[in-house]
Amino acid sequence: MKKYFAALIIALLPGLTFAAAALEYPLDKVEIDLTDKAGMQDGARTFANYCMGCHSAQFQRYERVANDLGIPHEIMLDNLVFNDAKIGEHMKIGMKPEDAKVWFGAAPPDLTLVARVRGTDWLYTYLRTFYDDPSRPLGANNKVFPNVGMPNVLVALQGRQYIGCKQVQVLEEGKKQFDPLTGTPITHEACDQLAIEPKSGALSEEEFDTKIKNLVTFLAYSANPVKLESQRVGAYVLLYLAFFFVFAYLLKREYWKDVH
Ligand code: HEC
Repeated sequence: MKKYFAALIIALLPGLTFAAAALEYPLDKVEIDLTDKAGMQDGARTFANYCMGCHSAQFQRYERVANDLGIPHEIMLDNLVFNDAKIGEHMKIGMKPEDAKVWFGAAPPDLTLVARVRGTDWLYTYLRTFYDDPSRPLGANNKVFPNVGMPNVLVALQGRQYIGCKQVQVLEEGKKQFDPLTGTPITHEACDQLAIEPKSGALSEEEFDTKIKNLVTFLAYSANPVKLESQRVGAYVLLYLAFFFVFAYLLKREYWKDVH
């Protein structure tokens, strides 16, 4: 009997995982450009100001970030280092994981490699989908990480986000999507949507999205700083090969002169 029961469970598993996938929040896509130094500098600033109160990036050194992103050391120390760390030190923080566990119910993990673990689309969506939820201890919940321990730390920039009704564009095929006279998109009211209370944050929705894109780009760089390095080395290798080719060609011409 036990065996049949086990077989039944195994037979049902694919259906169950499918159901779980259907419930997952769809991720927004983000294009990451690891050559965008200005964007990554902005991301590093946001990270130092809004994340390093709780999260470390302890496999990364301030100096490495400054050098890779083109930030002068004094500016780095004055604006991005908030403890008495020296430029060569790892990006650690003072908060103890035991304390954090008491305060938030979970310790904030180190973020050096988080872009590799979660992926950039996940991070981009996660950081933009905190919303008001009075039933949570810190008043906020998240769409891709339900019942997360992290508070909504970017609320001053994004504004108050809540679940409510709003006008959304009609996108279904076979339905009229645009007004034939004016060409404007047709909308309908949809509920259970994330909506932002107008003017409750310092940034507009587009500005906030760009800020988060920059932050995610910085995290993607941090998870793979070697990528920048290999791009730089790759360029030198190609230059070297081009240079070498000229001499090889001249040499070949020289040798074959006598053969003909
Ligand atoms: C006030 C403290 C605090 C601040 C500030 C904070 N976080 Fe968090 N964060 C947490 C806690 C606590 C968790 C663990 C949540 C859990 O497991 O329920 C967390 C979890 C996360 C996770 C999920 C990690 C994983 O893979 O499970 C990411 C990503 C993250 N934070 C990014 C950020 C970023 C980016 C910032 C800056 C914009 C930031 N956090 C600022 C407390 C904080």
